Amino acid sequence: MKEKILDYLNKGHDYLSGDQISKHLGISRQGLWKHIQELKDSGYQIAAVPHLGYRLESCPDRLFALEAARGLNTKFIGTSTKLSADKKIYYFDNLVSTMDSAMQLGLQGAASGTLVLAESQIKGRGRLGRGWFSPKYKGIYLSLILRPKILPSACPILTLMSAVSICEAVKEVIDLDAQIKWPNDVLIYNKKIAGILTEMNAEVDKVNFVVIGIGLNVNNDKKSLIAGATSLKEQQGVEINRVVLLRELLRRIENNYFLLEDKGPGEIINKWRNFTLTLGTRVKVDYQNKHIEGQATDIDADGALLIRKDSGLIQKVSSGDVTACR
Ligand code: BTN
Repeated sequence: MKEKILDYLNKGHDYLSGDQISKHLGISRQGLWKHIQELKDSGYQIAAVPHLGYRLESCPDRLFALEAARGLNTKFIGTSTKLSADKKIYYFDNLVSTMDSAMQLGLQGAASGTLVLAESQIKGRGRLGRGWFSPKYKGIYLSLILRPKILPSACPILTLMSAVSICEAVKEVIDLDAQIKWPNDVLIYNKKIAGILTEMNAEVDKVNFVVIGIGLNVNNDKKSLIAGATSLKEQQGVEINRVVLLRELLRRIENNYFLLEDKGPGEIINKWRNFTLTLGTRVKVDYQNKHIEGQATDIDADGALLIRKDSGLIQKVSSGDVTACR
């Protein structure tokens, strides 16, 4: 109901009488008043003037489920469907890690498209056993449950798809050009703004579910950034509306996911190539306690990086850490 009240207030842009709102939404005046108080307690500024009614003055910069879902217009990500009317967005002010909560929800049978959002994480997880610094109200920290009908070996494409979606959303919302360092770091001017961690629950030949974890530095100031990282605010010089960016990101992920389902990995890989920072450069890749150096020439259909060594031999690397060689 709160979502509907906000939508209606938003549409009016001017004062709407309590009577008008209650009638339109089919609730009592008392019920409306209670909802308005709760919205105010959550940080919405709603002016209430006798004889005039209510007017929405401002929304808080919070990733509330209600806010994320407003005008989202996705088919299944964060949106209930006829087939699954279950809750699709879980919001927390603080969590240990959205990955742990999403994994648990996945095991309990949560539907594809279920989203876990947290305003801060105590122990955000990064790739290769690293952490993810998750200061409160500064970034977007999300884990998304997907149930793709693909083999476990094909899952890395979902990480590439997510990286592409982040670049597209950043371009659309704030017109900044982000690039992807293989496999899944998103950078602006060579500094990291986002990372992706993909975990799955699978059998040998069947994926039960995948959890895609995305950490995006949005409004971090210099002091809440680690070395080598940047934020969209730092790059753009202004505070960014996290909710608007989140919604666009979810829409992009859904569109790219449908593209992957319809056309296979080729289209996603082509898009990924447009954003790559890695291909065509000389790199060193550390993987499984080994390292290899050479020219990064391409990625294959599974998202593995192809390196041409100085001997001319092409070697395929499925996961690892890339450093640019000067
Ligand atoms: C990386 O670059 O190493 C991946 C970082 C992924 C961080 C995100 S934040 C939301 C989700 N929850 C976590 O604990 N990790 C991922």
